Amino acid sequence: MQTVPVLIVHGGAGRYPQAEHEDVLAGCEAAARRGWAVLHGGGSALDAVQAAVMALEDDPRFNAGTGSVLNARGRVEMDASIMEGSGFAAGAVGAVSTVRNPVQLARLILDQGETVLRVGPAAEAFAREQGLKAVDPDTHVTDRQRARWQDAHETVGCVALDDRGRLAAATSTGGVFGKPPGRVGDSALIGCGTYADERGAVSCTGRGEAIIRAGLALRALSCLSPAAGPRQAADQALRWLARHTGAEAGLILLDPRGESAVVHNAPHMAFCRIDGRGDGRVSRGL
Ligand code: GLY
Repeated sequence: MQTVPVLIVHGGAGRYPQAEHEDVLAGCEAAARRGWAVLHGGGSALDAVQAAVMALEDDPRFNAGTGSVLNARGRVEMDASIMEGSGFAAGAVGAVSTVRNPVQLARLILDQGETVLRVGPAAEAFAREQGLKAVDPDTHVTDRQRARWQDAHETVGCVALDDRGRLAAATSTGGVFGKPPGRVGDSALIGCGTYADERGAVSCTGRGEAIIRAGLALRALSCLSPAAGPRQAADQALRWLARHTGAEAGLILLDPRGESAVVHNAPHMAFCRIDGRGDGRVSRGL
């Protein structure tokens, strides 16, 4: 029996100025439609989450890929991860500067299957070996970030369920504004910013150090039970994080039945969900 596909994109938890709301939602929807096109064409959840997150990385309105925040030395260092739920295949990168799409490099690591996480210049060397073109790190730096427009944690992510019932999750970020060089956050860490298994797929956003301490993505899935669906499980995990760290965060969770939750304790969290058949049914919010 074919599963009805579902895809959810998030553009990060944080504080978005009112004037930006429509723009951010439009960016989320455009990325979700990119991922949806993959699912609609019979593609895998893994390919769909990669396509959606690459669209967000290429959109300068989000803190991932082009548009990433600057670290304490005025440089961009990006993290990303991707995971497929039925085979536990995973790939991740930390503190990379010279790749256009960190999630694409994470996917190459997943496909190679030898390692899960690669960081810094060695990860960039692997990208070159795999045929990814080097980009000047300055191409990621936008006028908005130069002007320190805001310090919101607009990590991006996506979870998807394809018509064969397979789940996947991906997350990408420039991290936290002014972070020390070499700092790697939750978005590079499987189980923290990203996780997918037979129970569900999760992508997190928010203060990376708190999300790592909580093991938030895996914690949220562990809260699922016959009595607690995605909404309750996500809420429970987020409450744990808030109680023990006091931090702001958010997450999206999708289960194999297509039930999902978008939860956060920040002022805003932009998301877009598409489900159904054909062009799909779109819902979005902030
Ligand atoms: N959640 C993104 C980061 O803290 O790096």
